[in-house]
Amino acid sequence: MSRKYNVAIVGASGAVGEEILNVLEELEFPVNDILPLASARSAGQSVTFKNKDFVIKELTETTFEENDIDIAFFSAGGSISEKYAKYAVESGALVIDNTSHFRMDSDVPLVVPECNPEDIDAWQERGIIANPNCSTIQMVQILKPLDDAFDIKRVDVSTYQAASGAGKEGMEELVEELQAFFAFKLDEYKPKVFPHKLALNLFPHIDVFLENDYTKEEMKMVNETQKILHKQMEVSATCVRVPVLRSHSEAITIKFNQDFDIEKVKEILANAPGLKLADNVSKNLYPTPMMSTDTNDTFVGRVRRDNFDEKILHLWCCADQIRVGAATNAVRIALKWIENN
Ligand code: A2P
Repeated sequence: MSRKYNVAIVGASGAVGEEILNVLEELEFPVNDILPLASARSAGQSVTFKNKDFVIKELTETTFEENDIDIAFFSAGGSISEKYAKYAVESGALVIDNTSHFRMDSDVPLVVPECNPEDIDAWQERGIIANPNCSTIQMVQILKPLDDAFDIKRVDVSTYQAASGAGKEGMEELVEELQAFFAFKLDEYKPKVFPHKLALNLFPHIDVFLENDYTKEEMKMVNETQKILHKQMEVSATCVRVPVLRSHSEAITIKFNQDFDIEKVKEILANAPGLKLADNVSKNLYPTPMMSTDTNDTFVGRVRRDNFDEKILHLWCCADQIRVGAATNAVRIALKWIENN
């Protein structure tokens, strides 16, 4: 019988943690046992995996020495990964970290399995594999096959990011604001998660501002893209929060070093792993956040050549931020790791 694995989920009560359970089930991950972990606030509640209930335990410094865990998914925020990932590694578990904490460490691979599966082999250096930023994942899935074909020089991207990027609290805040709007009380509503009201609004501000006037989210897209694709390609991002519940959208402009054929571009995108081409404007077919929500695919459309520069391509994509941008990528990393080991 092939091997089965004991899996811990840190942040099991959160938006990504819950979805990891769904994706483990959907992708038929070889699970032996599940250990859902969260803070004392949620300990005692239960989560469901394959119609069976599992009680959430409080994450402590001794959790991993007391339990025989093979793979630990961390999605409870950077400070929790910083403090607790080492205990999981010391106990012999592989850590797949969904936070930004380890992503740019040179001895931690940063992996999108459709783009750089070979990097998984470097997991042994620290016992950790980092899952990239959600906006980066859906973009590099598109950039990788196009770079292989036509050699990308530069990428300019504007994102339209859903409330789900701020976890369950972010989604709840948007819903409460919408309810307040329909009760004629939006003026009185004080946002707690986001820097401004998100309902009927948007703002070019995700994560903190840095000294170079970009946000940390924008610089994640630059630095992580270069690390995953092993190429110093020029990338510039403007990241915008929009009043969508889940699924991020992106308008991407790509400048190639080589000439490209637009039909060939569409053929590459239609056949690339993880991507679905949704591009038929005569039928109003193009990706929308609702199309990608609850799926494991990145949808691409509005593929067109620039009006003035024949080496520039424009396109639009949508992907479920909680799945493709987090849970699905993490589970796909684990599946690839199992295959390699
Ligand atoms: P809890 O529900 O106990 O607060 P989201 O990204 O949807 O907001 O979810 C964040 C996840 O991180 C939740 O599962 C949350 O658990 C978990 N979390 C937050 N703080 C801690 C902590 N100190 N220890 C363990 N898990 C934590």
